[in-house]
Amino acid sequence: MNPLLASKQATVHIRGLGGYLPERVMSNDELAAMVDTSDEWIRSRTGITQRHLVAPDEMTADLACKAGKQALDDAGLIVADLDALVVATTTPDMIFPATASIVQAKLGGQGFPAWDIQAVCSGFVYGLAQLEGMMRAGMFRHVLLIGAESMSRIVDWSDRNTCVLFGDGAGAVVLSIGDDDACGIMRSVLHCDGAYRELLMAKHANRGRPPQSGQSVSMNVDAAGVSAIHMRGNEVFRIAVNKLGEVVTEVLAANAMKKSDIDWLIPHQANIRILHATAKKLHLPLERMVITVDQHANTSSASVPLALNHLYRQGGLKYGQVLLLEAFAGGFAWGANMIRWSRK
Ligand code: COA
Repeated sequence: MNPLLASKQATVHIRGLGGYLPERVMSNDELAAMVDTSDEWIRSRTGITQRHLVAPDEMTADLACKAGKQALDDAGLIVADLDALVVATTTPDMIFPATASIVQAKLGGQGFPAWDIQAVCSGFVYGLAQLEGMMRAGMFRHVLLIGAESMSRIVDWSDRNTCVLFGDGAGAVVLSIGDDDACGIMRSVLHCDGAYRELLMAKHANRGRPPQSGQSVSMNVDAAGVSAIHMRGNEVFRIAVNKLGEVVTEVLAANAMKKSDIDWLIPHQANIRILHATAKKLHLPLERMVITVDQHANTSSASVPLALNHLYRQGGLKYGQVLLLEAFAGGFAWGANMIRWSRK
């Protein structure tokens, strides 16, 4: 029998955490020298004070490797211990292969499955739910899940409505099967409503067409290759606040818990005003919510694991505490995970 199947009923735990932010930091003032905005506007409307940006030769996979290696070290594992590797990203290095394949090779791994998840800013929350299910079903014992983004590569730097909001980075967790039944990843809930897809999107660069009859093959190329984020911010904001309120209620009910059971809210970091509105709906004191949007801006799928890693490195997590992770994204895709922290 596959030895992994023996652990079918076991629980899934976060065994290691890692994070990485590119060295270059861009302040609001620096941005204000490029587009018609100001530090005051950005701070007051978003809570953002700065963002990290990749170097010209630094790709999403490079960020992912650094965060992933730190998570492996933290877990006391090496890449050969892994049974799978997943990268949640909306800014892959290439159309294919998956960024996870590149990360696997760069970390020195071989043979185990590696794939990407695209649920934009909800990618990490989706990935955690997907992998927890697969691990519980007995498929894997140790998995590396990374959220990694170089959003600065798909931002239109002349559009003040969007360029002030995003940053680059990567966060990672090692998930392992464990035998502490009192703790681990609990039930998650995921949603998507494609009817809203045009409110927040980045059109893809792969706009080539199959050659038409009588057309020369050289015409089958889109020389521009440009993609950029388009967002109707006001509408996204309103729906995000509503859906996040609903999903928190739903995930609490799925786990037979109540609002007061939450020790830490670890939300996707898009806008401080969305975070405050969510905390208010939950009657949660702001001290119990992790806030990194001021330093990181919106790093899409990296934002939740980076926030979790931030809390962990500060020594904020205690055995048995209840964590609620939630995210809202283009799609719209949204979801939440609950975790009872199991590291001592
Ligand atoms: N600097 C200065 N002014 C700006 C600006 C900037 N960077 N960006 C927009 N403005 C202007 C607008 O042009 C508008 O001017 P007008 O009234 O003359 O037309 C004004 O500020 C107000 O714009 P509005 O869109 O109403 O601002 P807002 O308070 O809704 O804040 C966002 C804009 C984008 C910060 C906010 O809507 C938001 O955060 N939305 C959700 C974004 C999000 O979560 N996205 C990711 C989900 S994963």
